[in-house]
Amino acid sequence: MVKWLDDAVFYEIYPQSFKDTNGDGIGDFRGILEKLDYIEGLGCNAVWMNPCFESPFGDAGYDISDYYKAAPRYGTNDELKQLIDAAHDRGMHILLDLVPGHTSTEHEWFRASMRAEKNEYTDRYVWTDSIWEEPEGQGSLRGISDRDGSCLVSFFSHQPALNYGYYRPEKPWQQAMDAPGPRATVEELKRIMRFWLGIGCDGFRVDMAHSLVKGDEDGKGTVRLWQKIREFLEEEFPEAVMVSEWGEPDKSLAGGFHMDFLLHFGPSHYNDLFRCDEPYFSGRGKGDVSKFVRIYQENHKKTAGKGLICIPSGNHDMDRLARTVCKDELKVAFAFLLSMPGAPFIYYGDEIGMRYVEGLTSVEGGYNRTGSRSPMQWDASVNAGFSLAGEEKLYIPLDPAPDRPTVKGQMEDPASLYHEVKELIAFRKEHPALRSRGGIEFIYAEKNAYPFAYVRSAEDEKILVILNPSGQPASFACEYSLAEPLRSFGGKITQRDGSVTVPGGFYGFYRV
Ligand code: NOJ
Ligand code: CA
Repeated sequence: MVKWLDDAVFYEIYPQSFKDTNGDGIGDFRGILEKLDYIEGLGCNAVWMNPCFESPFGDAGYDISDYYKAAPRYGTNDELKQLIDAAHDRGMHILLDLVPGHTSTEHEWFRASMRAEKNEYTDRYVWTDSIWEEPEGQGSLRGISDRDGSCLVSFFSHQPALNYGYYRPEKPWQQAMDAPGPRATVEELKRIMRFWLGIGCDGFRVDMAHSLVKGDEDGKGTVRLWQKIREFLEEEFPEAVMVSEWGEPDKSLAGGFHMDFLLHFGPSHYNDLFRCDEPYFSGRGKGDVSKFVRIYQENHKKTAGKGLICIPSGNHDMDRLARTVCKDELKVAFAFLLSMPGAPFIYYGDEIGMRYVEGLTSVEGGYNRTGSRSPMQWDASVNAGFSLAGEEKLYIPLDPAPDRPTVKGQMEDPASLYHEVKELIAFRKEHPALRSRGGIEFIYAEKNAYPFAYVRSAEDEKILVILNPSGQPASFACEYSLAEPLRSFGGKITQRDGSVTVPGGFYGFYRV
């Protein structure tokens, strides 16, 4: 297992919205380079950057037209290398975003594969053998070329599905996973990985990692495919780290991923925490953490020793955390996010409580996701310090609220969320029990109840974490006798007759 993951805390950067240095209104590599000090200062030692490759940007870069070339709007391959090198100089790591499931319709492979005459790319995508037959799935591209067939799409209609074969081919056009077409796709995927790992990136976040083999309901074919990729990495890049957009850690980690995300889709009940009508971390105190915990425990058991389950604060596809969890509630939410096993992922701006910007027109295939992708708010200068471009040129409009949070404002305020997050990260790093691989035992996680308590443990250390996001005091039966907290927020607990009562809006860490 790669050592640096032990105390990794990731920061997700959406490059177009982070920092623009040439006044075109779009963030760029140089902007990220300038802000590495900031990320390091916060305590994050690893970065996941969303796709930054050549693309017509119909899905914000998840529609790639050249896997081997940085998108000119962000900079050159050399500048990307400089950014990676600069991160390494600080002891930080960078994961790029690998999009193996589909390309843009503008990719030259797709153009070649649309041709009626057979060629090298005829089988690069999933095509039926007649325009009148559509493949089952997300829909298909039909009647767009002379090729007599329909091409499966993977997500949006302009994202044709690359061909990794069918788990159990049934129709003549469905190819086996080991047929020449799917094998060539896998070889190309390895070439892409080799290219960027060779340039120095530390690994990949993998887009829709669960979706590659078709007709594969239980994921068995896709797991096998990733195991092969892992073998290749073990041989050529044993230090390369892989995190999957999958949401089912028992499958993805079996496939050889080091980490998997719990996400707003899938069986994890992640949404119960922050994103539903009554989130557990809302001060209203009407949430339920029990289903999340039950599934987490099952997964944790199944994946023990195999890899990490990662709980993100949010990402570019979800509503901003601050849309449903506000003010001091966010501090309790971060106490949870930064004290669970696995590597935490902080979505840029969540550390200052950046808000979801309501009512925006979709940008680059963002639709409702656009409001979570607005420019980073650095300070009170022009365009919140994001860009010197005219306001109308900004990639996405800024949060117009006069009281929008900024990095500078929060750095100057010792009681801010920024400082809380920074201190929680430092606290996590100081305590082996709280790091990625420490154990977890849930002490109190009852249905529709508060507080929420668990013990994290490492060889020489055990720490009880108590969280009460609700606005009301709450009690639970506790066998430990608790001394002064190592760290807490929101008041003091009382302990009597084996019961601990904690104030509303509280978190505390206790040595036990
Ligand atoms: C998941 C990505 O996170 C999302 O932004 C994208 O639109 C789809 N996959 C398609 O690549
Ligand atoms: Ca720019």
